[in-house]
Parts: sequence; C-alpha cells; structure tokens
Amino acid sequence: MDEMIRIRGGHKLKGEVRVSSCKNSVVAILPSVVLASEIVKLYDVPEIKDVEILIKLLEKLNISVSVKDDELTIDPTDICNVDLLDEDVMKLRASYYFMGALLGRFRHVRMYSPGGCNLGPRPIDLHLKGFEALGAKIKQDGNIIEIDAEELEGDDIYLDFASVGATINIMLAACFARGRTTIENAAKEPEIIDLSSMLNKMGAQIRGAGTSEITINGVSRLKGCIHDIIPDRIEAGTYIIAAAACGEDVTVSNVIPQHIEALTSKLEEMGVKLEQGSDYVRVFEAEELRPVDIITQPFPGFATDLQQPLTALMTKANGDSHIEETIYTERFKHCKELNALGANIETRTGESLIHGPTPLKGSDIFATDLRCGASLVIAGLMAKGETCIHNAYHIYRGYDSIVDKLKALGADIE
Ligand code: EPZ
Repeated sequence: MDEMIRIRGGHKLKGEVRVSSCKNSVVAILPSVVLASEIVKLYDVPEIKDVEILIKLLEKLNISVSVKDDELTIDPTDICNVDLLDEDVMKLRASYYFMGALLGRFRHVRMYSPGGCNLGPRPIDLHLKGFEALGAKIKQDGNIIEIDAEELEGDDIYLDFASVGATINIMLAACFARGRTTIENAAKEPEIIDLSSMLNKMGAQIRGAGTSEITINGVSRLKGCIHDIIPDRIEAGTYIIAAAACGEDVTVSNVIPQHIEALTSKLEEMGVKLEQGSDYVRVFEAEELRPVDIITQPFPGFATDLQQPLTALMTKANGDSHIEETIYTERFKHCKELNALGANIETRTGESLIHGPTPLKGSDIFATDLRCGASLVIAGLMAKGETCIHNAYHIYRGYDSIVDKLKALGADIE
C-alpha cells in the first residue's frame, strides 16, 4: 500500500516541538543487548519503524522484549544464536550491528547483508577488516555472510575512513575479545559516545569514545543496565530547518545544541535568527535568506543527513547555494523531486547547485529515502497548494510522530 503524506502548504509554524530519542543511537543500542546477560531497560525509545524491525530480530534470537509506552524491557537471558536469514535484516542498515554483537558473544554469526537507504554504494569492508583483525574468518556466499572465530584477540585497528558503522561494530565485537583493542581514526559521532556509555554501565571497559582513538579492554561478561538515549540531532535539525523555512516562532526542545553547531552556524550565516538555551533552540521568522555553501563531513562537520533537508530551505535563499557531499556522493535523489515542485537545482556526482529563490508549488512527489522524505516534507510546508508525498514509509523509518508534531505546530498535514 502506498503510504502518503498530504500537506497543504503556506501555513506558519508556531509553538514548541519536542525532539525524540536518537534513531542512530537506538539502532546500535538494541543489537548491543545481545552482549548482556541480564535485563536492559531503555527509556524514551522513539516510535519508528527501524525500532520495530530490530525488536522483531531480537525476538528471533529468543530475546524477550516488552514495550510499555516508550519504555522497553529487554531480557536476553534465554538468548539463542540462530541464523538471521530473514527479510527484515535487509530492511535497514543497522541490522549489521548484529554481526559485531553476535560475533562477540558467540564467536559465530550467519546472516544476510544489511539493507537501508539507497544512497549509492555502501560497502562494509571496514567492518569486516576489523573483525578479521580480531581473529575472525569471513565467508560470503551471495547475500549471506558467515563470520567465525575460535578466539577473539584485541588488536590495533586503523580505519581508512572514520566510519560510524565500522567503529560501532568493532567496539561491539571487541568487548569480549582478549586483551586490548584500539580503534584509530575512529568516528566521533555522539551516537558512539551514547553506545559506549551504555556498554560501560553494563561493565565494558571502553575509553575515548567521541575522540579519534577508542580503546576497549576485553571483559568476560556484561550485566544489565538502565539507559536513557540521547536526543536525535538529525530530527532536531530537521525541525529547526522547517521552522527557518516557514516558522513564525518555533522552539525545538530536547536538543543538545553542541551536536548541531555545524547546522546552526550555517543557518545564522543564512540570516536565520536563533536563540539557543542549554536544551532548546528557538527559531524566529527570517526576513531574507542569504545563500551559503556547505561541505558534508564526519562529525563535528556538517552532517550528510541534514544536507537533504537543508536543500529545501536553500531554494528560498536569494542567490546560488552550493553543496559538496563527501560522504555519499550520490545522495541527491531529493533534488529531482524538489525540481518537480518548481526548484531549480543542478546535480553532479558529489555536488548540487541550488539556484534561489524559486517559489515552490504543490505536486505529487516521491520519497526515495529517509532524509529525502524529510526534505520533501519541508518543501511541502513551504509550497503553495497541495503536495502529496508518496512512499512515506521511508520517513516513518526515522521520524517519530512527524505528522502529529507538525500538526501541533500549525501545519496542515495528514
Ligand atoms: C551512519 O551510516 C548512519 N546510519 C547514516 O544515517 C549516516 O548518514 C552515516 O552514518 C554518516 O553519518 C546509522 O547510524 C544506522 P559510515 P554508516 O560507515 O555507519 C564509507 C540516516 O539518514 N564506508 O560512517 O553506514 C561509506 O560508503 C543515515 O539516518 C566504506 O567505504 O555510515 C560512506 O561513504 C543514512 N566502507 C562513508 O564510509 C565501510 O566499511 C561513511 O559511512 C564503511 C563505510
């Protein structure tokens, strides 16, 4: 069934919107429970499709999960290491964290390769090289990956690229490896710090998360814990951009402003007036927007996940904005859809040029991936008339209650 979001644009947004917990943290935290021998409780878990799928995969491993409102109680005491040859594995990227977690706990994992948003090539060679450095042997047969190790032994691992996924997967596998593992050129994203602080509460010995060198001293057992997940910086950024595009006075709360500095400083450069508190960002109506240039980079640089939403706002700026995308050079499918609304965007591998200002006019458009969907929602709010965003399931993978949250701000959306 085509899930569709319909927006009648042109309404001013006003009021407060609370950001949910972080998708890219929780999708690593859920598979990491495989390492625990006792109950793990998670608070404030976002209601998103990726979480639903990961819960199903945990249940396949005979891990019981009970959900009460936004609280999850996960009991891994009867865990059973079965092959994860299930189509759910291919519905999201983060299923690959079961590789590191099951390898760490059982020294054996057999599962499908992960899926996830189609952003061009998304290899996992760095994850697999990391596992091999710890002593694992890898077999690949079509879409099935099998990883085995007699023993896992700590090692020094240098990542050719500061990959979020590889850093997390190696951390998970190394928790039970003998001796010390060092990850050099590690990714520094806040989600890595969140996962490491949860694993440390469980008894892991991880130091340096958030820096480019992480060390993991292996332990033999991890206990349970209670954990509050950090707020979602990409969801926060999406609402801040939406407010800059069509807000009158919007407060985005449950935010860690330091996590989105690259965005807020660019918005200020564009002429958006912001007020930042310790846990909120307030966005005032902008009179005129200036064009800006951005280059996407690993944290703390400008997040690739926010370049798509920001593109919608750039169509309003007085002049040409330029985006250089260094993480996923093909992450520009949203531009064709924005052009269908009246934008004037040129794209080439690794870059887009947004000629502004162009008024947008509602039409039927298609979400091709999660953040493309977010970009189209912002464009729909800006556009005159009615916009129908098809394939909205991409959006529900990562945005908790997006329709209700925008409705509460005064948007005409269903
Ligand atoms: C994570 O993906 C996020 N996903 C992505 O979120 C995000 O866009 C990305 O990090 C960058 O910030 C999750 O956390 C589940 P990477 P990940 O490994 O871990 C190359 C969203 O919209 N690379 O840091 O897959 C890769 O091709 C999304 O929420 C290799 O070459 O990203 C890319 O160019 C989508 N070999 C770059 O590194 C590898 O083995 C960064 O990828 C691994 C990565």
